[in-house]
Amino acid sequence: MHSERKIPMRFIKTKTYEELSNKAADIIAAVIINKPNCVLGLATGSSPVGTYKRLIEDNKSGKIDFSEVTSVNLDEYVGLDGSNDQSYRYFMNDNLFNHVNIDKSKTFVPNGCADDLKAEGEAYDKMIKDLGGTDIQLLGIGLDGHIGFNEPDKYFVGPTHEVVLDQSTIEANARFFESIDDVPKTAITMGMMSIMQAKKILLVANGEAKKEIVEKSFFGPIDPMVPASLLQLHPDVTVIYSEN
Ligand code: GLP
Repeated sequence: MHSERKIPMRFIKTKTYEELSNKAADIIAAVIINKPNCVLGLATGSSPVGTYKRLIEDNKSGKIDFSEVTSVNLDEYVGLDGSNDQSYRYFMNDNLFNHVNIDKSKTFVPNGCADDLKAEGEAYDKMIKDLGGTDIQLLGIGLDGHIGFNEPDKYFVGPTHEVVLDQSTIEANARFFESIDDVPKTAITMGMMSIMQAKKILLVANGEAKKEIVEKSFFGPIDPMVPASLLQLHPDVTVIYSEN
């Protein structure tokens, strides 16, 4: 029996990365304008950098105000603290938080230096729940379909947890480090549960290299070997893809 595929997703294709970034920033700005004390789920990687740049401009021009915003980030490398310029805490300060009027004490990134990462994961999920969940979760996508650091696996993993990074992820992220040996082998990532509980999902991807995995994720079967494919079951997803 064949049923018609009905996915509630919005798939937007743009010509340029700038257009992608402008659209993504508009969507996030609308959330902040509608709910000044919203919870933003934020992501690292190169894909959202243009979006952050536009949000900084919007803040400087007075269009959006971060003073009541709380943010929760997806992931962090194990063993890197916020003073390390390759940590995701450092990335967020550098690419967004240092340039907008957000209260840094309301910006959360999992602690990759926690002694007990399992307890850290549980506390992180509880905190997100206590905040009332995220109003919008911004995501990039890895070449292997990972979101946050949820790598391809036999199962989708629900809670925030420690992961062993795939060799392909280590290779892809080596460009940010002095040598591939410096890339941490493990990370702590928000799991599928907190991601899927976000009220809105916004995934941004750009470049020819991401084309195949974007197609697999959103137009192929739902498969834990392609973690982003689970987003097909979320009721409010926007994917913005630019080939450049
Ligand atoms: C990292 C991050 C992901 C990100 C991915 C893609 O592994 N943990 O959250 O989406 O890289 O990065 P980029 O946007 O640089 O391609």
